Parts: sequence; C-alpha cells; structure tokens
Amino acid sequence: ATKREFEFSQDGKPKTFDCVVSCVFDQREQICGTAAVLHDITREKEISQMKNDFVSHVSHELKTPLASITAYSEMLADGEADDEQTRKEFYSVIQNQAQRLNRLIEDILNVSRIESGLIKVSKEPASLTMLIEEQLQMIKSYAEEKNIEVVGQKPIVFDQVSVDKDMISQVIVNLLSNAIKYTPAGGSVKIETEVDEIAHLARVSVTDTGVGIPEDEVEHVFDKFYRVGANKKQAKGTGLGLNLVKQIVEKVHNGRVFVTSKVDVGSTF
Ligand SMILES: Nc1ncnc2c1ncn2[C@@H]1O[C@H](COP(=O)(O)OP(=O)(O)OP(=O)(O)O)[C@@H](O)[C@H]1O
Ligand SMILES: [Mg+2]
Repeated sequence: ATKREFEFSQDGKPKTFDCVVSCVFDQREQICGTAAVLHDITREKEISQMKNDFVSHVSHELKTPLASITAYSEMLADGEADDEQTRKEFYSVIQNQAQRLNRLIEDILNVSRIESGLIKVSKEPASLTMLIEEQLQMIKSYAEEKNIEVVGQKPIVFDQVSVDKDMISQVIVNLLSNAIKYTPAGGSVKIETEVDEIAHLARVSVTDTGVGIPEDEVEHVFDKFYRVGANKKQAKGTGLGLNLVKQIVEKVHNGRVFVTSKVDVGSTF
C-alpha cells in the first residue's frame, strides 16, 4: 500500500486528504483492482499549523525582552555605565523586561491551561461590586499617572455571582487596564454592572473615551496575539490579554464577551 497526502478543493474550500492506495488481489493472487481510502485530515492540518504558528509567535515574544535583559546586563558587566544614574537606569530596564517576561509566561500558561482543560476552577459566591472595587484599587495609580478619570459603579442591591474569583478579577483588571492603556491623557473610563436576577445574568461593561478600534479589526481583538496596528504605538503589549478574557468568560463561566468601538471616540467591552 502507498500512503500519500494531497489537497483538493471541495465546495470551494481547500481540503487535505490522507490517501491510502492498495492493490486488491483475487484468489489466484493476481491484481484485480485497487482500493483507495481517503481520510479528511483538514482539521488536523489546521490545528498543527496553529500550533506551529503559536510556538513561533511565543518564541519571538520571549526573545524580545530577553534580548534587552542580555544587552543591558552585558553593558553593566563591561562597565559601560560609568555613573550611578545610568546604572540605575539599566537596572530598571532589566527589571521591567524581566517583569514583562514573567507576565508573558503567566498569560501563555493561563491560556494553555484553560484550553487544555487542565486548570482548576473553583467557583464560589462573590460580590461583583467587591471584586470590581479591589481591581479599581489595583489600577488606581496607573490611571492617575496617565491623568485618566476612572468612574466606578453605583452600588447595586443584588450583586452575588458564582465565579472563580481570581479568574474574574483577571478579566476585570485586563479590561480596565486596556481601557486606560488605549485612552489618551485627560480621558475617562467607566465601569458599570447590571444584574438581571430573573434571568440569572450579570453584565459588566467597561467604557473608555479612547482611540477606539477600526471596524474591520474589531472581530480579531480576541484572537491570540492580535494587536491593532494603529494602536500599537499607544502602549506595549502582547495581545494575549483579551484572549484570556474571552476564554475565562466564555469557556470557564459560560458567558459572552462583546465589544463595540468607534475610532477616536472610544470602546465598550
Ligand atoms: N479599550 C481599548 N481601546 C482600543 N483598543 C483596544 C482596547 N482594548 C484592546 N484594544 C486593542 O486590542 C488589542 C488586543 O488587546 P489585548 O489586551 O489582547 O492585548 P494588549 O493589551 O496589546 O497586550 P496584553 O497582552 O499585555 O494585554 C490591543 O493591542 C489593542 O490594539
Ligand atoms: Mg491588554
């Protein structure tokens, strides 16, 4: 039998098939025909391509901070920083890049843990207001630094939800930090909660007066490593934050994430 892989298009879509051709023998052991078995491996191919892309993207993302760390520590070792001020600058670059590396690895691990179903989810009753309040405290100084007003929510009566607290906190802080990150100084960020007790639904929205997302890119912002070209100069990032948000909300909590956005007006997640 010979085994071969080939591609052709079916209903206009390219498909990959694994094809095994064998000879069929009759009773006298004479070849009387051939049999071909086609096995559709399009999906397997796609998954393996996605894995390769992921690995090459991750290695690239890891290399950038690592290159800075190497360069700056070499300069320090070679005595290229001759005054205390310059040395401090170099140390701080190294620290920042190490932190970035750490965050990156955490995000990658979290995304893969959720995707592989290996993550331990511990849902418990929690107050949404409290979770949001905690995260607002976390990002307060970042907002002040950028002179952005952060408007918290009005207290709501019934705000109990059953969630994995750590994960939902991560969702909230990712959305808030994006809102601040992609809003020019002087703007504002608002977080609101609505609870529909009858339908057992809670909706949290984060609205900013930021740079917005072009219409044709909105659908991609939840993709792994996707960053909007026009917004890259606003801030550093890896494009994993929103993917994590989507996985936590949709895979772990059976919820939905949405975004509406207008360039130069702002976004709501
Ligand atoms: N509030 C927002 N306003 C405008 N653009 C946004 C907003 N939030 C996200 N984006 C765009 O979507 C992209 C993906 O967001 P995501 O949070 O996944 O990545 P990131 O912020 O670039 O990096 P990180 O992984 O550090 O969070 C961003 O790069 C940015 O271009
Ligand atoms: Mg982000």
